[in-house]
Amino acid sequence: MITYDDEQLVYINKIKSIIKNYYGDNPTCTVVTFGCQMNAKDSEKLLGILLQCGFIDINDEENADIVIFNTCTVRENANQRLYGRIGQLKKYCDNSNKIIGICGCMMQEKDEVDLIQKKYPFIKLIFGTFNVYKIAELLYNVLINNNKVIEVLDNTNKIVENLPSKRKYSYKCGINIMYGCNNFCSYCIVPYVRGRERSRDKNDIINEINNVVNDGVVEVMLLGQNVNSYGKDIENNITFPELLNEICNIDKLKRIRFMTSHPKDLSDELIYVIKNNNKICRHIHLPVQSGSDRILKLMNRKYTREHYLNLIKKIKNNIDNVSITTDIIVGFPTETEEDFNDTLSLVKEVEFDSAFTFKYSKRTGTKAAEMEGQVPDNTVSERFERLLDVIKNISNKNNNKLVNKLCDCLVEDIDDEKKLLVGRLSNNLLVYFKGNYNLIGSFVNVKITKNNGFYFDGDIIK
Ligand code: 5AD
Ligand code: SF4
Repeated sequence: MITYDDEQLVYINKIKSIIKNYYGDNPTCTVVTFGCQMNAKDSEKLLGILLQCGFIDINDEENADIVIFNTCTVRENANQRLYGRIGQLKKYCDNSNKIIGICGCMMQEKDEVDLIQKKYPFIKLIFGTFNVYKIAELLYNVLINNNKVIEVLDNTNKIVENLPSKRKYSYKCGINIMYGCNNFCSYCIVPYVRGRERSRDKNDIINEINNVVNDGVVEVMLLGQNVNSYGKDIENNITFPELLNEICNIDKLKRIRFMTSHPKDLSDELIYVIKNNNKICRHIHLPVQSGSDRILKLMNRKYTREHYLNLIKKIKNNIDNVSITTDIIVGFPTETEEDFNDTLSLVKEVEFDSAFTFKYSKRTGTKAAEMEGQVPDNTVSERFERLLDVIKNISNKNNNKLVNKLCDCLVEDIDDEKKLLVGRLSNNLLVYFKGNYNLIGSFVNVKITKNNGFYFDGDIIK
């Protein structure tokens, strides 16, 4: 029986046998990623397949033979950024075999695909979120037929395993545990562009982690739009905390993170599992979006301010030194000064360690886009600045508590400008310190010496 991945391996080999005719001895590629960790993971798959086809990654949009833009559409400004970038590449496509492909969330929107075809006719390849795994087949068809290929699917129930992937980092990586979202928060386009929830089989997840761990990975980030729903759509009835427990048993794996949790179904069982497993990082990202019950209801978030605050209390009471971060939207339709003040007071009560803040962005097709009472831009901007100010002060105060503490950190990189190593703490914050670059990928003990706002300075303790 031919499985989907076998079928794709056939196309990978077909491309390998013909690309020299098109691009000479050194065919090159680049994958450009916009958006979230899910997209970053998809890009690793795209790049893995392209490398297997024989392309060399040169990370250079202007000169690469194949350039793939993996797009995001969660907010309007992501779309504008893409159009700026592809506009600049047109001149490189004239009279050449260069192929620019666009895929990902934005391509699931028909209006955007129509616009690209009209305004950017030199784009030869368009595909969506459900057929990323097919890039070799689609690209082969562009090459062979010298024609445009546009394939955007409405949905899928398939999960394709075992295709190549090129990890960006040797020591850490994302692992998809589920795809899609069933929540339909009224502002959010994700359920429309990524489809319904599909959990991966537990054994496939464990096998993938075992493989990357054997290849040197020490930290994984489990990825899903709403990881707390993991398992609800598959037969063997496994929950997210149960999956986490099993992953903790993988010996050489040292750190586990996950993203994203929805407050409506973060269970006591999950809090208990985190509390009892030191491998699970002391960081919970729990998007609250608003502190106003009225707005939460309009957002279709399915929890109240009180539920959220109780959850935070439970987490803090049970998990020592846990860092709690969040996402907040400012200026949701009909948001009043009173609603916004509810958000500010919630932020002060929770004392978030940091928060991603967004100005509400109207996404066509979502319920909120149809709502009356869109908030004027200047009001949104003014509230946004006030919110940032409050968050900055709180996170600064929280970070001060870590100065002079000893912390375990994973050395991730070297900062060329500062000539310092960069390490990540369990709570997700970064520390800069002196050290040898061959420490990258290993754990060191660091004494925090200074809080610089969003990052620390420190010294390695021998
Ligand atoms: N406008 C602004 N922010 C949004 N987000 C999702 N959709 C929108 C939108 N239409 C934010 C939410 C979510 C994060 C990933 O992006 O805060 O948690
Ligand atoms: Fe969007 Fe809500 Fe699903 Fe998150 S949970 S992806 S905000 S619909």
